[in-house]
Amino acid sequence: MEARLLEALRICDSWQDRFSFVIESGDAAAAGAGSGREVIAHAVCTRGYVDDVPVLALGPIAVLPDRQRSGAGSALVHGLIGAANATAEPMIVLLGSPVYYGRFGFVRSSDVGVEPPEPEWHEHFQARMLSSYRQTMRGEFVYASPFRTVQ
Ligand SMILES: CC(C)(COP(=O)(O)OP(=O)(O)OC[C@H]1O[C@@H](n2cnc3c(N)ncnc32)[C@H](O)[C@@H]1OP(=O)(O)O)[C@@H](O)C(=O)NCCC(=O)NCCS
Repeated sequence: MEARLLEALRICDSWQDRFSFVIESGDAAAAGAGSGREVIAHAVCTRGYVDDVPVLALGPIAVLPDRQRSGAGSALVHGLIGAANATAEPMIVLLGSPVYYGRFGFVRSSDVGVEPPEPEWHEHFQARMLSSYRQTMRGEFVYASPFRTVQ
Protein backbone atom coordinates (compact mmCIF):
# COMPACT_ATOMS: atom_id res chain seq x y z
CA MET A 1 0.00 0.00 0.00
CA GLU A 2 2.83 2.40 0.85
CA ALA A 3 4.37 1.88 -2.60
CA ARG A 4 1.07 2.83 -4.26
CA LEU A 5 0.74 5.80 -1.91
CA LEU A 6 4.22 7.02 -2.82
CA GLU A 7 3.49 6.75 -6.56
CA ALA A 8 0.34 8.84 -6.09
CA LEU A 9 2.13 11.39 -3.92
CA ARG A 10 4.86 11.89 -6.55
CA ILE A 11 2.33 13.17 -9.10
CA CYS A 12 0.14 15.24 -6.79
CA ASP A 13 0.33 18.98 -6.04
CA SER A 14 1.54 18.33 -2.50
CA TRP A 15 4.82 16.70 -3.61
CA GLN A 16 7.97 18.54 -2.53
CA ASP A 17 11.13 17.45 -4.38
CA ARG A 18 13.36 19.05 -1.76
CA PHE A 19 11.91 16.85 0.97
CA SER A 20 12.35 13.51 -0.82
CA PHE A 21 15.47 11.85 0.58
CA VAL A 22 17.16 8.54 -0.17
CA ILE A 23 20.23 6.86 1.29
CA GLU A 24 22.37 4.82 -1.09
CA SER A 25 24.67 2.07 0.03
CA GLY A 26 27.57 3.12 -2.18
CA ASP A 27 28.26 -0.61 -2.35
CA ALA A 28 28.80 -1.46 -6.03
CA ALA A 29 28.94 -5.19 -5.34
CA ALA A 30 25.49 -5.13 -3.73
CA ALA A 31 23.94 -3.33 -6.69
CA GLY A 32 25.04 -5.76 -9.40
CA ALA A 33 25.18 -4.43 -12.95
CA GLY A 34 22.95 -1.39 -12.33
CA SER A 35 23.95 2.11 -11.35
CA GLY A 36 26.53 0.82 -8.94
CA ARG A 37 24.48 1.87 -5.96
CA GLU A 38 21.52 0.53 -4.07
CA VAL A 39 18.85 2.63 -2.37
CA ILE A 40 18.69 1.27 1.16
CA ALA A 41 16.32 3.80 2.73
CA HIS A 42 13.96 6.61 1.80
CA ALA A 43 11.68 9.18 3.39
CA VAL A 44 9.46 11.98 2.17
CA CYS A 45 7.63 14.99 3.53
CA THR A 46 4.60 16.27 1.63
CA ARG A 47 2.49 19.39 2.02
CA GLY A 48 -0.36 19.29 4.49
CA TYR A 49 -2.29 21.90 6.42
CA VAL A 50 -3.15 22.76 10.01
CA ASP A 51 -6.35 24.70 9.52
CA ASP A 52 -5.12 26.83 6.58
CA VAL A 53 -1.44 26.96 7.60
CA PRO A 54 0.93 24.98 5.34
CA VAL A 55 3.06 22.45 7.23
CA LEU A 56 4.79 19.16 6.35
CA ALA A 57 3.77 15.53 6.87
CA LEU A 58 6.58 12.99 7.16
CA GLY A 59 5.98 9.60 5.56
CA PRO A 60 6.24 7.12 4.12
CA ILE A 61 9.67 6.27 5.55
CA ALA A 62 11.30 2.88 5.20
CA VAL A 63 14.66 1.14 5.53
CA LEU A 64 15.46 -2.20 3.87
CA PRO A 65 14.98 -4.94 6.50
CA ASP A 66 18.61 -6.05 6.50
CA ARG A 67 19.75 -2.42 6.89
CA GLN A 68 17.48 -1.50 9.79
CA ARG A 69 18.86 -0.48 13.18
CA SER A 70 22.04 0.91 11.68
CA GLY A 71 21.09 4.59 11.87
CA ALA A 72 19.61 5.10 8.38
CA GLY A 73 16.14 5.98 9.67
CA SER A 74 17.59 8.43 12.17
CA ALA A 75 19.72 10.07 9.48
CA LEU A 76 16.64 10.57 7.29
CA VAL A 77 14.53 12.06 10.07
CA HIS A 78 17.32 14.39 11.21
CA GLY A 79 17.95 15.38 7.59
CA LEU A 80 14.30 16.19 6.94
CA ILE A 81 14.02 18.21 10.15
CA GLY A 82 17.14 20.17 9.13
CA ALA A 83 15.89 20.79 5.59
CA ALA A 84 12.48 21.88 6.88
CA ASN A 85 14.04 24.28 9.38
CA ALA A 86 16.37 25.68 6.73
CA THR A 87 13.43 26.51 4.48
CA ALA A 88 11.30 28.10 7.26
CA GLU A 89 8.72 25.32 7.45
CA PRO A 90 6.98 25.69 10.83
CA MET A 91 6.10 22.10 11.69
CA ILE A 92 6.35 18.43 10.69
CA VAL A 93 3.63 15.97 11.67
CA LEU A 94 3.54 12.19 11.34
CA LEU A 95 1.78 9.00 12.37
CA GLY A 96 4.19 6.62 14.07
CA SER A 97 5.69 5.20 17.22
CA PRO A 98 6.05 7.78 20.03
CA VAL A 99 8.99 5.75 21.35
CA TYR A 100 10.88 6.04 18.09
CA TYR A 101 9.98 9.62 17.10
CA GLY A 102 10.16 11.10 20.58
CA ARG A 103 13.95 11.00 20.31
CA PHE A 104 13.75 13.53 17.46
CA GLY A 105 11.64 16.00 19.43
CA PHE A 106 8.19 14.91 18.24
CA VAL A 107 5.39 15.29 20.78
CA ARG A 108 1.74 14.25 20.85
CA SER A 109 0.15 16.67 18.38
CA SER A 110 -2.99 17.30 20.41
CA ASP A 111 -0.78 18.62 23.23
CA VAL A 112 0.03 21.58 20.97
CA GLY A 113 -3.49 21.96 19.59
CA VAL A 114 -3.06 20.02 16.35
CA GLU A 115 -5.78 17.42 16.01
CA PRO A 116 -5.21 14.20 14.02
CA PRO A 117 -7.42 13.40 11.00
CA GLU A 118 -8.55 10.27 12.90
CA PRO A 119 -9.22 10.85 16.64
CA GLU A 120 -8.26 7.26 17.50
CA TRP A 121 -4.65 7.88 16.46
CA HIS A 122 -4.15 9.51 19.87
CA GLU A 123 -0.47 9.76 20.87
CA HIS A 124 0.66 8.14 17.61
CA PHE A 125 -0.06 11.36 15.72
CA GLN A 126 2.87 13.60 16.52
CA ALA A 127 4.22 17.05 15.75
CA ARG A 128 7.74 18.50 15.67
CA MET A 129 7.78 22.28 16.08
CA LEU A 130 10.44 24.08 14.07
CA SER A 131 12.00 27.55 14.31
CA SER A 132 9.14 29.23 12.42
CA TYR A 133 6.44 27.62 14.56
CA ARG A 134 3.85 29.91 16.14
CA GLN A 135 1.46 28.90 18.92
CA THR A 136 -1.46 30.15 16.83
CA MET A 137 -0.98 27.15 14.50
CA ARG A 138 -3.83 25.07 15.85
CA GLY A 139 -6.63 23.04 14.35
CA GLU A 140 -7.20 19.82 12.46
CA PHE A 141 -4.44 18.45 10.28
CA VAL A 142 -5.30 17.65 6.66
CA TYR A 143 -3.05 15.31 4.64
CA ALA A 144 -2.38 15.46 0.90
CA SER A 145 -5.31 13.85 -0.92
CA PRO A 146 -3.55 10.52 -1.78
CA PHE A 147 -3.42 9.71 1.94
CA ARG A 148 -7.22 9.65 1.86
CA THR A 149 -7.80 8.03 -1.52
CA VAL A 150 -5.11 5.35 -2.02
CA GLN A 151 -6.14 1.94 -0.66
C1 LIG B 1 11.13 2.51 11.54
C2 LIG B 1 12.40 2.61 10.68
C3 LIG B 1 12.20 3.66 9.59
C4 LIG B 1 13.56 3.04 11.59
O1 LIG B 1 14.76 3.10 10.82
P1 LIG B 1 16.08 2.36 11.32
O2 LIG B 1 17.17 2.74 10.38
O3 LIG B 1 15.79 0.91 11.48
O4 LIG B 1 16.27 3.01 12.76
P2 LIG B 1 17.58 3.59 13.41
O5 LIG B 1 18.73 2.67 13.16
O6 LIG B 1 17.74 5.01 13.02
O7 LIG B 1 17.19 3.58 14.92
C5 LIG B 1 17.14 2.34 15.58
C6 LIG B 1 16.32 2.51 16.84
O8 LIG B 1 14.96 2.67 16.50
C7 LIG B 1 14.16 1.68 17.16
N1 LIG B 1 13.07 1.32 16.28
C8 LIG B 1 13.15 0.91 15.02
N2 LIG B 1 11.91 0.70 14.53
C9 LIG B 1 11.05 1.02 15.52
C10 LIG B 1 9.63 0.99 15.65
N3 LIG B 1 8.82 0.64 14.65
N4 LIG B 1 9.09 1.38 16.83
C11 LIG B 1 9.88 1.77 17.86
N5 LIG B 1 11.22 1.79 17.81
C12 LIG B 1 11.79 1.41 16.64
C13 LIG B 1 15.09 0.56 17.45
O9 LIG B 1 14.67 -0.19 18.55
C14 LIG B 1 16.39 1.29 17.76
O10 LIG B 1 16.34 1.76 19.08
P3 LIG B 1 17.67 1.93 19.94
O11 LIG B 1 18.49 2.98 19.25
O12 LIG B 1 17.18 2.37 21.28
O13 LIG B 1 18.31 0.58 19.93
C15 LIG B 1 12.79 1.25 10.04
O14 LIG B 1 13.05 0.31 11.06
C16 LIG B 1 11.73 0.67 9.10
O15 LIG B 1 11.77 0.92 7.90
N6 LIG B 1 10.82 -0.15 9.62
C17 LIG B 1 9.82 -0.80 8.81
C18 LIG B 1 8.90 0.18 8.13
C19 LIG B 1 8.14 1.02 9.13
O16 LIG B 1 7.81 0.58 10.24
N7 LIG B 1 7.83 2.25 8.70
C20 LIG B 1 6.97 3.10 9.44
C21 LIG B 1 7.68 4.02 10.34
S1 LIG B 1 6.49 5.11 11.11
